[in-house]
Amino acid sequence: MLTSYFDTRIKLLDTAIKEYFRYEQEHPSRLFQAIKYSMFSGGKKIRPVLFFATFEMLKKNDEIENLKPLLPVAVAIESIHTASLIHDDLPALDNSNERRGQPSCHKKYDPATAILAGDALLTKAFELLSFYDDKEVAVNLVQLLCHAVSTRGMIGGQTVDLLSAHKNVLQLNVLQYIHAKKTGTLLEASVRMACACAKTDPSTTHMLATYAMNLGLAYQIIDDILDDVGDFETLGKEPYEDIRNHKTTYPTIMGLDKARKMADKLLDDSYKIVKNMKHNHILIEFLKMIKDRLP
Ligand code: IPE
Ligand code: IPE
Ligand code: MG
Ligand code: MG
Ligand code: MG
Repeated sequence: MLTSYFDTRIKLLDTAIKEYFRYEQEHPSRLFQAIKYSMFSGGKKIRPVLFFATFEMLKKNDEIENLKPLLPVAVAIESIHTASLIHDDLPALDNSNERRGQPSCHKKYDPATAILAGDALLTKAFELLSFYDDKEVAVNLVQLLCHAVSTRGMIGGQTVDLLSAHKNVLQLNVLQYIHAKKTGTLLEASVRMACACAKTDPSTTHMLATYAMNLGLAYQIIDDILDDVGDFETLGKEPYEDIRNHKTTYPTIMGLDKARKMADKLLDDSYKIVKNMKHNHILIEFLKMIKDRLP
């Protein structure tokens, strides 16, 4: 069920990405080629799909037509995510040569082009938000996304992630901060932005934001575990990258078993939040999908 849900939503999203970037006509073409390469290299696109799913649940309507006004916002979310991965792979950050089974952006092109492609995607996202029809909501969307991405969000988390490498002892609360910020905040913002578009009440928004933050933290813990137990095929890159980069991860702090239990507990907490909500089936499927990433 989730597969066909994802397929239809991603088809809609991909058409919108092409429309908003109009690669072929744009200059300079090397920059646009790098953007296109990274936006269409097999990403799972879970953040924009979660954004759609939350909106559909809140509106109690799953007609695909209703998602059309949301497209600039969904493309903005995926643009930010793509920028974060392009920059994350750079030699100055994780120095990853592969992403999704292919050369990472700076390997396919060069580091300067990858830095600039990331910059272009980050800034384009905020232009896209300004296209949202209801301008009062659009301003709120800008604030939500900025908060999730900037110093207090993903970029803050990435900074502490890098500063914490090579430290032998890292407290669990510091690692939790890193994971919540570098990965949790964008997933949380995807859900908060759906709530803003659906004009949801503050208490439901708060509950769904907590659902997404738990899910985001679990997602990154599972990413850490997969780096330890996965192979090139599952990861789309060589395993043991965190060890190579001297990163502390959930498995290094508490062992694989406890890390797995912690991810399960977070996903279960999220389940408890949405289990009594109406039209919750896709949000519940999301939790299963994330749990099933583990072998
Ligand atoms: C990878 O995110 C980076 C993390 C935050 C763990 P995804 O697993 O969503 O990456 P793609 O876009 O599907 O490749
Ligand atoms: C990535 O975390 C988080 C962001 C890009 C914001 P990782 O560095 O663990 O992600 P992968 O393993 O490279 O996908
Ligand atoms: Mg990283
Ligand atoms: Mg990385
Ligand atoms: Mg990782």
